[in-house]
Amino acid sequence: MKPIYSGKAKTIYEYDEDKVLIEFRDDITAGNGAKKDVKKGKGYLNALISSELFKILEESGVKTHFIKYIEPNKILAKKVEIIPIEVIVRNIAAGSLCKRYPFKEGQELKEPIVQFDYKNDEYGDPMINEDIAVNLDLATREELKEMREIALKVNDILKKYFDKKGIILVDFKIEIGRCKDGLVVADEISPDTMRLWDKETRDILDKDVFRKDLGDVIAKYKIVAGRLGIIKKEDNYV
Ligand code: TMP
Repeated sequence: MKPIYSGKAKTIYEYDEDKVLIEFRDDITAGNGAKKDVKKGKGYLNALISSELFKILEESGVKTHFIKYIEPNKILAKKVEIIPIEVIVRNIAAGSLCKRYPFKEGQELKEPIVQFDYKNDEYGDPMINEDIAVNLDLATREELKEMREIALKVNDILKKYFDKKGIILVDFKIEIGRCKDGLVVADEISPDTMRLWDKETRDILDKDVFRKDLGDVIAKYKIVAGRLGIIKKEDNYV
């Protein structure tokens, strides 16, 4: 199979006319590729965690591109046209929100913040609003409205789900694609694209461990997979 796209941590292969195979690699990057490393088992853990979260969303009535998990580090998915907008939802202030605005790190937000960032490395993924998105022909107003609704629904479902597993969903990023079924959640949902904190200790269980040099990032991703009950004790992928 020939790759049709290779990003910083994933390679996409054409499977057939309407499906793609997404390979999660062990590459890890931060700061738009400024910091790079390879961590054994990361591709496996992210494919596994993403698959579980896509299943949870589908069971709760959110359409996604997910078809099935292929051991150890691939997902079979519907081919979609990705809308180049990163949809971020925040429950607790962290990361760039605290750099740009006077929010305190760890502060609970009165209500979730939905943020649209233009997926464009050349411009440094700037935050955009509806008018900019429409004028750049990234999406229609109707799509943007639906994207916000999808993002808030994903937040409701995943926040409750992680809470039951003793994890706080601080924030996350999703990508949305167009396909025959309409708009669907695509790409990945993993500790690379979410902030996850232990509910008791507030220990960081996501890519911030790598971004901020806080220790063994794979050990944290394993804790997440363990809490979700999806990691097999006997597996030797990590
Ligand atoms: P931020 O606080 O750096 O803006 O990140 C918000 C959330 O979005 C966080 O969970 C990490 C995720 N994210 C990505 O998945 N990809 C990105 O390129 C960025 C900037 C953030």
